[in-house]
Amino acid sequence: MSDQRVVITDESSGKSLELPVIKGTEGEPTLQIKALPSTLGYFTYDPGFTATASCTSKITFIDGGKGILRYRGYPIEQLSEKSNFLEVAFLLLTGELPTSAETEDFEEDITYHTMIHEKLNTFISGFHYDAHPMAMMAGVVGSLAAFYHDKLDMENPAHRLLAAKRMIAKMPTIAAACYRHHMGWPTAYPKNSLNYTERFLDMMFSVPAEKYEVSPVAAKAFDLLFILHADHEQNASTSTVRLVGSTGANPYASVAAGISALWGPAHGGANEAVLNMLDEIGDISRVGLFVDKAKDKNDPFRLMGFGHRVYKNYDPRASIIRAAAYEVLEELGASDPLMDLAMELERIALEDEYFVTKKLYPNVDFYSGIIYKALGIPRSMFTVMFAIARTVGWVSQWLEQEETPTPIGRPRQVYDGQPARDYVSVESR
Ligand code: CMC
Repeated sequence: MSDQRVVITDESSGKSLELPVIKGTEGEPTLQIKALPSTLGYFTYDPGFTATASCTSKITFIDGGKGILRYRGYPIEQLSEKSNFLEVAFLLLTGELPTSAETEDFEEDITYHTMIHEKLNTFISGFHYDAHPMAMMAGVVGSLAAFYHDKLDMENPAHRLLAAKRMIAKMPTIAAACYRHHMGWPTAYPKNSLNYTERFLDMMFSVPAEKYEVSPVAAKAFDLLFILHADHEQNASTSTVRLVGSTGANPYASVAAGISALWGPAHGGANEAVLNMLDEIGDISRVGLFVDKAKDKNDPFRLMGFGHRVYKNYDPRASIIRAAAYEVLEELGASDPLMDLAMELERIALEDEYFVTKKLYPNVDFYSGIIYKALGIPRSMFTVMFAIARTVGWVSQWLEQEETPTPIGRPRQVYDGQPARDYVSVESR
């Protein structure tokens, strides 16, 4: 809170109210409007929460105008160059980078929880083979409370942390199990001699018939992608996790709801949608046509992987991923015509007045699919990759909320339906 106040006056009643201004360490000043209904009798209307802060948080900072993203104060560029995913997970969970002893303990802790209950594999085998993996993920993660209910006292900080670590540890195992079910491959158990990303790739791609060695290029690329997707303040899925958590629901149920929110093409599902779009465009000669379609207000088509609620500048994650996509393709000695198509689409869109004036730039999802594809991840699993990484953000945000007294999330509405009327019997309708 600051000393600054904003006075609003209701001209019809002549009443005024001083609204306190909340100032964080960085970011826009925010009006505290809590007293508005009781003092002036008004609620606020903000569909899509375009002007609403739902909480205070110390985890992630975004300056959308400048294209800045920081986790716990550390710029994403530095973390993606110098850190690794588990270190970033520790940072997001606790607020500080770990010492070497803490790194060792944390890695040991996460590694200890990588296995899933054998009955979860039975549960997964009940899905139809062609179920979308995000549907399976939401179901399986929601069911974790049924398997790990031994330590689910949400008043107990040790239980809360354990649930958070269990999810970070088990998410890659669950994701790989869903994929293997689709492929009809036997279960692959986590090899704890490998690190987080290597272990995940091993569970995804190893088969009993052949020796499988994790590609260092793939492991490095995944580590980077996981860092970049780890948290992004109060986006739709994180807000969902917080909202569900605010009811006192267990963290597995809250994260399962987050997975469902992430699946939408306006959110994490955009990485899958980008490749579908590039396929549909098909050829560089057709890029202009699709840019025109995206600008046409009578056409629902949008450029997937473009635009962001907060970034009105280049998404810093997209620049890092674009460079990484080049590197991965080069290191694998591969080329992908979709990369050329994506580059051309970006070039044309960034020169177009519509995209320039609306400040629409490529976002995190624009180039990530090209890397996933190059590394053999099937398209339907792209958003699952996002979910594995974002689990760290979800549980960190959930823990932060649990540590702060938070009322249940319960927005109001503007009722726009029928006024009161009397029941009409069926004969008279
Ligand atoms: N293509 C064409 N026009 C667009 C696009 C786009 N991708 N994005 C926004 N616009 C236009 C939109 O039509 C609107 O125009 P007008 O002011 O004339 O009505 C204006 O730009 C503002 O858009 P908005 O929908 O009001 O903005 P928003 O903040 O509500 O939506 C968004 C943000 C990400 C949902 C949207 O940009 C979009 O649908 N992008 C494509 C999907 C996508 O890439 N999603 C991933 C987001 S980043 C990762 C994540 O969150 O998981």
